[in-house]
Amino acid sequence: MNASIPESEAKGSGHGWIHRLLRHRGFQICVAAIILVGGVGAVFAYYEFFRVVPQVVCGDVEEANRATLCADEAEEKFKYGSLGAEADRGVPYTIFHVLPRAFPDLLPGSGGYRAFGIPWEEGRELPVGFAKKTMGFPRITQNCAVCHAATYRTGPEAKPVLVVAGPSLTTDVQAFLDFLEAAANDPRFTADVLLPHIENSFDLSFLDKLIHRYLIIPLTRKAVLEQAEEFAWMRAHGRPDWGPGRDDPMNLTKFFMIEMEDDGTTGNADFPSVWNLGLREGHSLNWAGETQDPLAVIIDSALGLGAPPGDAFTEQMTEIRAYLRDKEPPPFPFEIDAAKAEAGEPIYKEFCGDCHEPGGAYFGKVVPIDDIGTDRERFDTWQQEHADATNRVALDMGVERKPMVKDVGYASQPLDGIWLRAPYLHNGAVPSLRDLLKAPEERKDVFFRGCDIYDEAAMGFQSEPPFYDCRVFEFDTRLRGNGNGGHLYGVDLSEDEKDKLVEYMKTL
Ligand code: HEC
Ligand code: HEC
Repeated sequence: MNASIPESEAKGSGHGWIHRLLRHRGFQICVAAIILVGGVGAVFAYYEFFRVVPQVVCGDVEEANRATLCADEAEEKFKYGSLGAEADRGVPYTIFHVLPRAFPDLLPGSGGYRAFGIPWEEGRELPVGFAKKTMGFPRITQNCAVCHAATYRTGPEAKPVLVVAGPSLTTDVQAFLDFLEAAANDPRFTADVLLPHIENSFDLSFLDKLIHRYLIIPLTRKAVLEQAEEFAWMRAHGRPDWGPGRDDPMNLTKFFMIEMEDDGTTGNADFPSVWNLGLREGHSLNWAGETQDPLAVIIDSALGLGAPPGDAFTEQMTEIRAYLRDKEPPPFPFEIDAAKAEAGEPIYKEFCGDCHEPGGAYFGKVVPIDDIGTDRERFDTWQQEHADATNRVALDMGVERKPMVKDVGYASQPLDGIWLRAPYLHNGAVPSLRDLLKAPEERKDVFFRGCDIYDEAAMGFQSEPPFYDCRVFEFDTRLRGNGNGGHLYGVDLSEDEKDKLVEYMKTL
């Protein structure tokens, strides 16, 4: 992995004064003495002593290339910016860097972290959605782009196009967590095995080695194993795997933010697009309308990622909101038959506009669960008591935001950039627009998710073999929470009307 990491960059730069300090002989002798005399407690104090080094936007890119690679600062921050969770969630960069090299056999495929479907831009040090920031030592945390940055390809040979704020349809967060757990459980997770890998990429001083051997490596292992235990609920109660492009967002909130007992519900949900949030102001967000204000969702998501509240937090939330408010969805990358699309517009307005067109009577509102008729498990995962508890925790943290609620069904949202938002519905149980316009019994029981090659005819991603250069996940709509029923709008249109409607939807 990490062919893209320039060795000179990986080798120790970015430590700045800390590195110089660490290398200072007098200091080393002094700290070595503290380690020997004062034990682990003193070393912790030593870590705590180190200040946080502010992130440099695009710091991993050479000065000369910044103008081209990092033209949009807000986008850069969305992709690689830290939310400040280093203290709580930071994984030491050295370890993050070498894990796929030390345990290639535990990866689901080749290509390092790319094996989890995580987009990785050429010339960048880290995959999209990962932030490096120094707090004592460089640490890796995750940000919004882990789940909100799509790639697509127009064919097997085409280069992937990154779409920031699109749904991370290839990214398998659960498989990534599984890998970390498997590595931490592996008898090779020792200083003797990992240090040589680390030294291949980084210049470690005597003190760095000592710290890695006695603190960083064993403590990281311990933290990963503890995290794995906290995630054990993911596979309890017959909960199906998330697969690429999904997680269980409300249960993540319930079991981590409000620390409630596992209630056996499953609420697997697709990563949504988060562009054009200006359209969503004052409307219901989240699949089941639990939040009614974009800023509140952004705040809760950042808290979920371990961001510490405070002035910097508030400022950053406002910045993210401003970026997503105007971020546009990408245009359809294939040709559109303009006459046919025009003929489809009135069909869309008549059959879909009430709920999906800004200004429509039910636009941005929640459709009662029995009317919409889609799988109800995600809806049932969240109750008023969970909203109340979450609101209390947020208040206790000193965070002001519009409170969460329990609503009556699923929210109807704008269909902007809908071509890229496949598979469809809150649980991603319908592979393509063409399938969504079929009666439920004609929709596919089983299909494959996770490939980013677009299927123009179906209007979704390739969901049937043969696959070229795609790691896919078999999605079974008969499992809990994965049902593909409901949303019967448009299913009775004629084939000709459906063609026109779909052509028009390419323009959204
Ligand atoms: C681990 C994956 C993950 C991360 C990281 C993440 N999100 Fe999300 N996000 C989701 C999922 C899943 C949903 C859908 C939740 C649901 O079921 O309603 C969502 C919903 C949203 C929504 C509501 C969209 C809608 O259509 O209702 C917004 C806005 C959003 N996220 C913004 C963010 C921001 C900003 C961050 C970073 C601070 C972030 N998310 C981090 C997975 C993630
Ligand atoms: C009565 C309101 C209503 C009407 C009418 C309606 N929809 Fe929907 N639509 C919804 C709701 C609510 C959802 C979310 C359901 C879910 O995810 O379970 C949805 C979801 C969708 C999605 C999936 C969005 C995504 O990001 O996965 C698509 C695509 C869609 N609708 C297309 C259409 C089309 C095309 C029509 C017209 C033929 C239509 N809808 C008519 C309410 C409506």
